[in-house]
Amino acid sequence: MKIFIDSANTGEIIRCLGTGLVDGVTTNPSLLRKVGKDPIEVYKSLEQLGVEDVSMEVVGNLQQMEKQANKLISMFGDICTVKLPMNQDGLKLCKYLASNGVRTNVTLIFNAAQALLAAKAGATYVSPFVGRIDDQGYSGLEVVRSIADLYKTTGFSTQVLAASIRTPHRAVRSYYNGADVVTMPSPVFWQMFEHVLTESGLRQFEVDYETFN
Ligand code: G3P
Repeated sequence: MKIFIDSANTGEIIRCLGTGLVDGVTTNPSLLRKVGKDPIEVYKSLEQLGVEDVSMEVVGNLQQMEKQANKLISMFGDICTVKLPMNQDGLKLCKYLASNGVRTNVTLIFNAAQALLAAKAGATYVSPFVGRIDDQGYSGLEVVRSIADLYKTTGFSTQVLAASIRTPHRAVRSYYNGADVVTMPSPVFWQMFEHVLTESGLRQFEVDYETFN
């Protein structure tokens, strides 16, 4: 069971890494745009911070993506997971990279059919977008479960990486439904530590503890 942080904000990521509970980071062009930094600079910072698994997204046609992927692999080696789109070019490149031992994450997965093809192409991870499936009036968690069940039945070793996670409930239920990894924005990660009864109980213990001094 792995926890990834879905962010390109290195300040946020440093705080999360400080807990010792984070296994990796996923980025995408929208998250990178939000921080307004050059992607390569962000990846360099994550490398320096010791993050061992960073999803770095490539875009465009097959040739363009292959060029970007080669650059990322040569710059970042083992920490680089090439994040590819769920389309024909993405899966072609996925198959090629997988056969060369490169980790891949096929993103923008919305159903089990897509997840099946991505696994067939040798994807290390597939990313079903739980929140965006919910936005369409379907259950993102059910899609996670159908993919996890499908992989169990068919014997694929591709890991289910639940993405587009907006609440601790969706994060936890993703694991229940068979996700191997959940990538979550840092606010969701911090919310997972909290409960109102933990807070009030702790306050009371502190008050009672003081009576011994
Ligand atoms: O991991 C994908 C994520 O960054 C998208 O999240 O909330 O925009 O659907 P959201």
